[in-house]
Amino acid sequence: MSLETGLDGKKRILTGDRPTGRLHLGHWVGSIAARVKLQHEYETVIIVADLHMLTTKRSRDDIRQILFNARGLVLDYLSSGIDPEKSAIYLQSAVPETHELHTYLQNLVTVNRLLRLPSIKQMAQDANIAEESLPFGLLGYPVLQAADILLARAHLVPVGRDNLAHVEITRELARQFNSNYGPVFPEPEPLLSDIAALVGTDNRGKMSKSAGNAIFLSDDEQTVAAKVQGMFTDPKRIHADTPGTVEGNPLFIYHRIFNANRTEVEDLEKRYTAGKVGDREVKEKLAGALNNFLGPFRRRMAFYQSKPGIVDEIIWNGTLKMQRIAAETMREVREKMGLDHVWKSLH
Ligand code: TRP
Repeated sequence: MSLETGLDGKKRILTGDRPTGRLHLGHWVGSIAARVKLQHEYETVIIVADLHMLTTKRSRDDIRQILFNARGLVLDYLSSGIDPEKSAIYLQSAVPETHELHTYLQNLVTVNRLLRLPSIKQMAQDANIAEESLPFGLLGYPVLQAADILLARAHLVPVGRDNLAHVEITRELARQFNSNYGPVFPEPEPLLSDIAALVGTDNRGKMSKSAGNAIFLSDDEQTVAAKVQGMFTDPKRIHADTPGTVEGNPLFIYHRIFNANRTEVEDLEKRYTAGKVGDREVKEKLAGALNNFLGPFRRRMAFYQSKPGIVDEIIWNGTLKMQRIAAETMREVREKMGLDHVWKSLH
């Protein structure tokens, strides 16, 4: 296999998520939409990164929850339009070569380089871990991520902005490995969404499950309508005839992204700025637009839910494919490092 293309001549994508819970509109805007689109142009591999979860959660109960979340995550991928015929979805812990490559890569990066990353501090803080209790594994989080990306020999990594530094570490590790032992890995390019982050329904920072300001891809029509009803809007508007501000108003941010009816959005914006429409109408139309947008998601979700066992089967097939890719990469890695030599000389 060349460094340039995968087995079928296409360049390869490796992307994915930790199984933390169900996906919401922020995930869609940040990376899922790009993955659905790019799966037609790239050979796509999607990782369900359960090993990364263990860096902050490790009890038996945590692990049971992680594997439960993994199925929900994959169901959300499928309802988003990830096509299992085009994209292999795999469970990270079921590809043990991940650990092997992780071990080799650990020696090609310094502790100082990792300690400087804001993402490590952020994850420790989010998990209530004090600085002096930083687990070795959490410090190695980006190296484990590099192992995922390099194991797949991916060319492109669509990620959220918070993962950009990890792709940069991956590129450094690829260069370092290639220059020490010979060319095995392409230097993967990150791909960011043009929308940095989607604001939450409460307008207090980005949409996230833990902040309780998320609209989930799996929310039903009534739930979406109720969440939109409770959304933050221009606080200076006491009456429907007070001129309102469109810029930075979450109602209009969502309208612009999710409402396919451009004329309706423009009309609402004009009337809002002129004080000629009530929040109620803007919200009702937004709920309608979001429910239209989510219609195809719900249809695909119902399809997959009507077939018991299909989600596990899809994960297993994707895992088998990644196992083949991983075996091939590691054969070359050991050969270039001269390790296979040692093994062979033992018998
Ligand atoms: N770090 C990613 C997250 O924040 C998950 C992840 C693990 C990942 N390995 C990856 C993403 C490889 C892209 C490529 O959830």
